[in-house]
Amino acid sequence: MCGIVAYIGNKNAYPIIVKGLKRLEYRGYDSAGLALLNGDLNIYKIKGKVSQLEAFAADKDLRGSIGIGHTRWATHGEPNDINAHPHLSDNGRLAIIHNGIIENSDSLKKLLTRDGHTFTSETDTEVLVQFIGSVQQKYNLPIEEAVRQALGSVIGAYAIVLIDKEDPTKIVAARKGSPLVVGVGDSEFFLASDATPIVEYTKKMIYLNDEEIVIMDRDNLEIKTIANIPKKPEIQEVELAVDELEKGGYEHFMLKEIYQQGQTIADAMRGRMSHIESWVKMGGMEEYEEKFRKAKRLIIVACGTSWHAGLVAEYLFEDLARVPVEVEYASEFRYRNPILTEEDIVIAISQSGETADTLAALELARSKGALIYGVVNVVGSSISRLTHAGSYIHAGPEIGVASTKAFTGQLSIFTLMALYLANAKGTISRTYFQKLLNELTIIPGKIEEILKQNDQIKYIAAEIKNSNNAIYLGRGFNFPIALEGALKLKEISYIHAEGYPAAEMKHGPIALIDEKMPVIVIATNKNAYEKVVSNVQEIKARKGIVVSIVAKGDEQISRLSDYTIEIPPTEDPLAPLLSVIPLQLLSYHIAVMRQCNVDQPRNLAKSVTVE
Ligand code: F6R
Repeated sequence: MCGIVAYIGNKNAYPIIVKGLKRLEYRGYDSAGLALLNGDLNIYKIKGKVSQLEAFAADKDLRGSIGIGHTRWATHGEPNDINAHPHLSDNGRLAIIHNGIIENSDSLKKLLTRDGHTFTSETDTEVLVQFIGSVQQKYNLPIEEAVRQALGSVIGAYAIVLIDKEDPTKIVAARKGSPLVVGVGDSEFFLASDATPIVEYTKKMIYLNDEEIVIMDRDNLEIKTIANIPKKPEIQEVELAVDELEKGGYEHFMLKEIYQQGQTIADAMRGRMSHIESWVKMGGMEEYEEKFRKAKRLIIVACGTSWHAGLVAEYLFEDLARVPVEVEYASEFRYRNPILTEEDIVIAISQSGETADTLAALELARSKGALIYGVVNVVGSSISRLTHAGSYIHAGPEIGVASTKAFTGQLSIFTLMALYLANAKGTISRTYFQKLLNELTIIPGKIEEILKQNDQIKYIAAEIKNSNNAIYLGRGFNFPIALEGALKLKEISYIHAEGYPAAEMKHGPIALIDEKMPVIVIATNKNAYEKVVSNVQEIKARKGIVVSIVAKGDEQISRLSDYTIEIPPTEDPLAPLLSVIPLQLLSYHIAVMRQCNVDQPRNLAKSVTVE
C-alpha cells in the first residue's frame, strides 16, 4: 500500500526520492507524487507509475535538498492526479504525504469547512493537512507543535511526513498504526515505509513506534510522543544487501523468489535443527516451553497466503503435537468478541509484519492477556515488535506481490515448531521424529528437482491459459495447498479459481465441471490416496481437464490425468513444501502468457496497512 520516501541532507533530494519510490513499487500503488523545498515549494503528482511521474517532472524545477515522495494506493477517492499525494494546506504552506486512513476525517472536514477552508481533493489526507495547518495558523505554532497538537484530535491510522515552506530546514513525521522507518546518515536523514529505499545509503535505522513524532533537520533528530514525552532514538543496524532488492537476471521478482526457495527453506531451518544430532531448537519457544506444553489451544491469526500457512500449521500441530488449533482470518477474529483464556497461545503469521488486520487481532489478544507469538519475515516490523516471542523466517525481501518464498518459509518454521512441541510433549516417536528431520534436510534438494520441470509446467500453462475458471483440489496436508494454488492463479492471472478439499467436490463444485474446466488435483498424499483416485475418475467422467501433481512413480492418477507433474515423494506432513512449487510456477507462466503484470497485479498491495 502507500509508500513513503523522504530526504533531508546536502544532496539533491529528487533522485533519491524517485529511486526510493521505485524500490517501494512492490507495495502496490496507483499514483505517485513528490514535493521539493528550495525556497519555493514545488509539488508534482500524477496518476500512474513512478516512471510517468519522472517523465512529467523532467522539465520542471527539481532543485532542493529537502523532499517528500509518495506512491498512493487509493482509499478515499479514485486514483487521479488530484487525489495523488502530496497534499497542500490551503494557505500553501504545509505539504503532507500519508499512509493510512483518518477515520474522523468527515467530522474534521465539517469543522474546517465551517471555518472557511476549501478542499480540492476527495482525500482524508487533505483534510489532515488542512487541520494541521489550521492549528498552526490559529496558535502561531512551529510545524512540529502544530503536528503534535493536531494529532491529539485525530482518530485513525497514519504514517505522515510534512514539510513547511516557511520553515524550510525541517521535516516532521509521525506514525500510528502504519510503518515508518528513519535512516540515519552523515548529516542527512531518510524516511521510508520500510528499509528498502534506504539501505543503499545507510544501514542505521530507527523504527518509529506508534504515537511518536520525529523532527529532523540536516544534523539533528529528535523524537517525542504525541503526549510530548521525549524519547531516546534507538538506532539498529539492518542486515539487508542491495542486491537482494534487484531481480538478479530473472524476468520477474516472483520468478526469482520461486527459484530461491531451496535456499530460503534452508535459511529458515539453519541453526534450528540437526538431523545428525537429532534435535530441533526454536529460540522463541524455549522461553515459553512450559506454556506451549500446557496450552489448551493454539489460535492462529493471519490473512491471505499467510492464513493458508496457518491451515497447514493446524494439520502439523494437531498431527504431531496433539494440540487443538484454530485458524482465524485476523479481520474476523478481531470483530467477533473471541473467547480467549490465559491457556491459549495466539500465533500471528505475516510476511510483511505490517498487515493492519493481523496487527489489530494481536493487539486484542494481547489486551486479553494471551501469550502472542509471531512468525514474521520482515525484521523489526510492527508485528514482530508487538509479540512476546517469535521466529523470523529469514526469507529475505519478498518483492513480488504474490507471496511465494515467504509461504514456504512459514511452512518450514511451523514444521519445526510442531516438531519441537511434539518432542517436548512426547507425542512423537523417536523414529518418526528422526525420519522427519532426515527428510526435512533433503527438502531443498527436492525443490531444485521440481524446478527442473519448469519447461513441462510452462507447457501445461500454455494448454490451460485461456480458461476462465479453474478448480484446485487437495486432501489433508494438501488441502491448504489447493487454496493457495487457487489464490496464486487468481491474483496474478485474474482467472477465477477456487480451492476445495477433494472430497467436498461432490457437494457442489462438481456442477461446474465440463470439458472447459481445468481441475488441478494435488495427489501426493499417501493417506487417502485411493479416495483421490475416485475423485479424479469423477472429474474425468464429466470431461474435466485434469492436471495432477503426483509423487514420482505414481501410476494410477497419472494414467487418468490429461497432464501430470511429478514431484519427489516425501512424508505427508512435508508434502506442502513441495506440492506448492509447481502451482506457483503454473500461475506464474499463465500470468506471463496472459500479459499480466506479475510482480504488481492490479488492485493488490504487498503490505496491507489499512483494515
Ligand atoms: C497473496 C499474498 C497476500 C498476503 C496477505 C497477508 O499472495 O501475498 O494474500 O499473504 O496480504 O500479508 P502478510 O503475510 O504480509 O501479513
